[in-house]
Amino acid sequence: MGERLSGGGRMSANATELLLLAESIAREAGALLREAFRGPELRISAKSTPTDLVSEADHAAEHLIRERITATRPDDAVLGEEGGDTKGTSGIRWVVDPLDGTINFLFGVPQWAVSIAAEDSEGALVGVVYDPERDELFSATRGGQATLDGHPIKASTKTDMATALIGTGFGYDSEVRRAQAAVVARLLPEVRDIRRFGAAAIDLAWTACGRLDAYYEHGLNAWDLAAGGLICECAGLEVRHVDPIGPSNPGVIVGPPTLVDALARALV
Ligand code: IPD
Ligand code: CA
Ligand code: CA
Repeated sequence: MGERLSGGGRMSANATELLLLAESIAREAGALLREAFRGPELRISAKSTPTDLVSEADHAAEHLIRERITATRPDDAVLGEEGGDTKGTSGIRWVVDPLDGTINFLFGVPQWAVSIAAEDSEGALVGVVYDPERDELFSATRGGQATLDGHPIKASTKTDMATALIGTGFGYDSEVRRAQAAVVARLLPEVRDIRRFGAAAIDLAWTACGRLDAYYEHGLNAWDLAAGGLICECAGLEVRHVDPIGPSNPGVIVGPPTLVDALARALV
C-alpha cells in the first residue's frame, strides 16, 4: 500500500483517499450551506425540544454528503445527524454533522461548520471540520498531525487554570442546562474566561489550534465529536470522556493534560 507524508506522519493510501474525499465533500456541502446562509428564509422545525431546531439547509447538506459518499464508496456505513444510521460492509463508517451550529446559522451568526469523520474498527481514522464563513479547513488522520488549510497547528500547552480560556456548550434540554449552568457558576471565577460559541465542531477545532486552551461539554453526540476529537488528539491534546452531570449524558474534556485534570475536578 502506498504512503504519503502529511503533517509529519505517514498515511496509508486508504486513509489518504478517505481524507481527500472528506475534504472535498465538506467544501462542497459548505458551499451549499453558504448560499443558503445568504439566501431567503429557510423552513425550520423543532426536534428534541422547542430550542432544538433543524432547517431544510441541514437536510440538504446531509443529502449531498450522503450522495457523494455513496457514489464513491457504496459499501461504507454512514451515521448522520439528520439521516440516521445506514449500514455498510466495508468496515468504514462515516460520521457526519452536516451543519454544526444550526442555531447560529438560523440567527445569521457566522459560526457554524460541516463536520465529517470516517471511522474504522479502531475509531476515528480521518476527520475534517470545515468553517465556510472563514474558509478554514481543519483536518487530521490518525497517527498524523492536525492541520489548518494544510499547515500543522499548535495547541495550547497551558497548565494554569487561572489564565486559561475555556470553551463549552450547552444541551437543548432545560434540566441538563440547569446542571451545566451550575458548573459554569463554579468554574467562571477560577479561569480567565469562558466562551460559548455555539458550534461544538468549531470549538474542538479552535482548541486544537490554540484559540481556546481547553473545551468541555456534556451530552455531545457522536457526530459533534468524531472529527473534532480526532483533530484535537492529533494536535497532541488529551480527549477525556467523563461522567454525566445531573440528567446529562456523559461529557468530554479536551485540552493539555494538566488542564483536563483540573477541569475534571471542577466539573464534579
Ligand atoms: C450543537 C452545537 C452546540 C452544542 C450542542 C450541539 P447542532 O449542534 O454544536 O454548540 O452545544 O451540544 O448539539 O445541533 O447545532 O448540530
Ligand atoms: Ca452538532
Ligand atoms: Ca447539526
